[in-house]
Amino acid sequence: MKYKDPNLSVEERVEDLLARMALEEKIAQCMQIYIPPENREEILARIRAVGLGSRILSDEQLAGSVSTRTASIADLNEVQRVAMEESRLGIPILSGTDVIHGQHTIFPIPLAMAAAFDPAAVEEACAMAAAETASMGIHWTFAPMMDIARDPRWGRIIEGFGEDPFLGSKMAAAAVRGFQGELDDKGYIRPGRVLACAKHYIGYGAAEGGRDYNTGEITDHTLRNIYLPPFKAAVKAGVGTVMSAFHDLNGEPASGSRYLLTDILKEELGFKGLVISDWSAVSELINHRVAADEHEAARQAFDAGVDMEMISECYNRHLAGLVQAGVISQERLDDAVRRVLSVKFRLGLFEHPYAGKDGQMEQLLLESHRAASRRLAARSMVLLKNDGLLPLKPDTGRIAVIGPYANERRSLLGSWVNDHLVDQPQTLVEAVRAAFPEAQILTARSGLYDEMLMAAAAADVVVLALGESHARNGEYNCVASIELPAGQQALVDAVAGLGKPVAAVVYTGRPAALTRVVSHVNALLLAWHPGSLGAEATADVLFGAVNPGGKLPVSFPRSEGQIPVHYNHNSTGRFNPRYLDMPVTPLFPFGFGLSYTSFAIDGLDVQPQAVEPGGKVRVTVTVTNTGTREGEEVVQCYVQDCVSRRTRPVRELKGFERLALQPGESRRVTFELGMDELGYYGPGGKWVLEPGDFKVWVGSSSEASLEGRFRVIG
Ligand code: GLC
Repeated sequence: MKYKDPNLSVEERVEDLLARMALEEKIAQCMQIYIPPENREEILARIRAVGLGSRILSDEQLAGSVSTRTASIADLNEVQRVAMEESRLGIPILSGTDVIHGQHTIFPIPLAMAAAFDPAAVEEACAMAAAETASMGIHWTFAPMMDIARDPRWGRIIEGFGEDPFLGSKMAAAAVRGFQGELDDKGYIRPGRVLACAKHYIGYGAAEGGRDYNTGEITDHTLRNIYLPPFKAAVKAGVGTVMSAFHDLNGEPASGSRYLLTDILKEELGFKGLVISDWSAVSELINHRVAADEHEAARQAFDAGVDMEMISECYNRHLAGLVQAGVISQERLDDAVRRVLSVKFRLGLFEHPYAGKDGQMEQLLLESHRAASRRLAARSMVLLKNDGLLPLKPDTGRIAVIGPYANERRSLLGSWVNDHLVDQPQTLVEAVRAAFPEAQILTARSGLYDEMLMAAAAADVVVLALGESHARNGEYNCVASIELPAGQQALVDAVAGLGKPVAAVVYTGRPAALTRVVSHVNALLLAWHPGSLGAEATADVLFGAVNPGGKLPVSFPRSEGQIPVHYNHNSTGRFNPRYLDMPVTPLFPFGFGLSYTSFAIDGLDVQPQAVEPGGKVRVTVTVTNTGTREGEEVVQCYVQDCVSRRTRPVRELKGFERLALQPGESRRVTFELGMDELGYYGPGGKWVLEPGDFKVWVGSSSEASLEGRFRVIG
């Protein structure tokens, strides 16, 4: 037996294997490479000689913006067989790719998922994506991305869970649970699940100017209180891997920072999995001009705590020399290899190395997955304005469904979809016609604004589908203006000028400045990039089959001139900040979203009024559906530490619950606030809960006004 039987502990199996590994074999485990067809034989020879840690299936460094091909099951199995049967130790290879919001069944983009304020739904989506991915023989997804983002100019805002640390933490943990599932009694990930990856560690969303890869300058106080919580939650949820980011943060590249990767992540948070660099981020230390060459880049990244190098080959070329020269200790090398081997054992890779044994391709495009995607898409949509026009009635007369996104398919899927069936989505026009075959639906050829106006002129009501292409956001796709793309405002103005009632639908990945749209329409529905069933979900909401209940996970600025604008800003010492030419408040605040019904939130009760530092405060309210149809409200609980030794936000989300209520139905909702919710990283970066007064607000957005108080004594 090349390695100990699975009845022994992972630790014993790792130590047994490690003790038998030669230097070159250890270093091979610290590499992730792409296997291009033209180099296949050379790479297979290398695998026979020393093995390989991992192969990445994305063949594009901007995988999210272009469709990439995933290796076939036959190819995955053949390469795995060479590793298992023709190398000396038979260590299996970990295959990984970017399954960010679905593998074949595409779910709404992660920012949209966050808008549902429903961690269980996110967990379900990730579990389904895991099942589809695992059935293709892929072991590892580079997700969830959990970068806090406060700048909609940054294209990757679509990929995370928005601006709030608490919401981001809940979503990150839910996604990790969904991808990896509950570990079995020996701590192994069960078949049908995949290894998750918390990325991009850390502070990637703080890129100056919203320009991807750009420098980030954030204080340690902000780093720990705003950007770290989602990673802390992911580590607590048992995430198997973490990806180090590209950018320079506070004077050192994240992929070369021992402070970030070892002091905080591995030692302070106790992360026991493996850290992989982002694509060539190790060799890019040279571009950051902190390393003169690959030799120094390898030393810096490995010493910092990057256990596995993605794509670039600094480790392959220089790690042996660094270890033999004693510059990198044997202990550090063994630590990295232990982490890699532990992940492989925990994934059950030694027992289930081949694809096709556990429901090969049977998990793809299951009707249950499609139904879940449609449900989550509808629940993620945010109703931003409605003067009563929505929901539409199919017999409303002639309904014009027009606009640049009325007949669009691919962009509904959003960025970061590999191997999808690009013609999979229905268009909005097709979905509306399929849902209401008797309705009189008019449309026009996309791009022909004159024909669109003719359809609108002939209609009784207009559905105007606006938005941005999936190719305009995602990695490296950043914009200076967050207005809708050129021409769309003119179309809005022209359609509005016809005097017909207009419901605008906005398919967008990033927050757009909708200031001049909202004033010209009767209703405004934010549909995000809603995935494979996004058109059907849009029709579900527009015509009332689903009552929208989504809330904004990120503030929507009036203009890019306001950026950064976010609800959890600090107090200021003097007058409240202002602009002379625009309000300082966003067009739509964090947590905002309307419904086809109405809700009352009252009866606030805060007990106890005085709590010991180790105790919990229970904040309870009554939520009532005061309208005439069923609906879902996301009740939100915000807290302010009235006086603290370091400045803190004017309010912070510390609890939320999405409630479904029938007309007239009331329910009591309680939020428990303890050390985890009330403490913060204070002086010296230490987690503290300081005695003193706290305010609490409960409501339906970050503008909640139902206020209570309590005191932490001690
Ligand atoms: C990309 C992205 C990262 C992705 C990796 C592999 O450049 O930054 O999120 O997981 O490379 O495709």
